[in-house]
Amino acid sequence: METTKRASNNGGHCGTDADGKIRMSKPFAVGLAVLFVGATVAVGLLVYNFADPVGGGNDDSVLATTMSPSTALPPQLLKDVRLPTHLTPLVYDIRLLPFVEEAENWRIDGYVKVYMSCTSPGRNVTLHLLEIVVDESSIILENVDTGARVPVTDIGYDKARQFMTVNLGEELRPGMQYSLEIGKFDAVLNDKLAGFYRSKYEHQGSISVAINCQI
Ligand SMILES: *[C@@H]1O[C@H](CO)[C@@H](O)[C@H](O)[C@H]1NC(C)=O
Repeated sequence: METTKRASNNGGHCGTDADGKIRMSKPFAVGLAVLFVGATVAVGLLVYNFADPVGGGNDDSVLATTMSPSTALPPQLLKDVRLPTHLTPLVYDIRLLPFVEEAENWRIDGYVKVYMSCTSPGRNVTLHLLEIVVDESSIILENVDTGARVPVTDIGYDKARQFMTVNLGEELRPGMQYSLEIGKFDAVLNDKLAGFYRSKYEHQGSISVAINCQI
């Protein structure tokens, strides 16, 4: 209630209360979330389509063995950060609930469901993920065409490449569509000017907090 009332009082989408905390109107918050999601998906697609794999394909070792030591890159830069190509993402359903209050630790509660089409056999779904804690028990993989669940055996992380890999008990079949649902993940509304983040500004002599997203 407070949210919409204040927003309409000052004629904008955001307001600050007496404690200097930001209140956003719901449509504005939803708009922000949509922008954030759009930016995330766009960056993901750009990386997916245009990243130039160093050394070619998935082979991480080629360049390391052919370059002279003086020009060798640090090992982590030799990795191919592109995702495996056996799945093509179709649609992302992402819901983000930011907590714009210090008492709530500037958290974001998140939910995502990705619809994908399988182009070649594989036994995993691999996603990019950074500074996000996934509730692994909330992960569900489903064959969209048959409605059948695909068993998840374990989850792996490759921190250097910012990968999370959901390993499966069955092979994914080319031509079928699958959905991966992460029912709950936690992220931080960080202050590092990256992703969905917070920053401070001065407003009428007091310090307020603004929530921003990168586009
Ligand atoms: C996931 O599956 C793809 C396709 O089979 C494979 O290329 C890739 O190495 C696998 N990734 C992991 C981490 O197992």
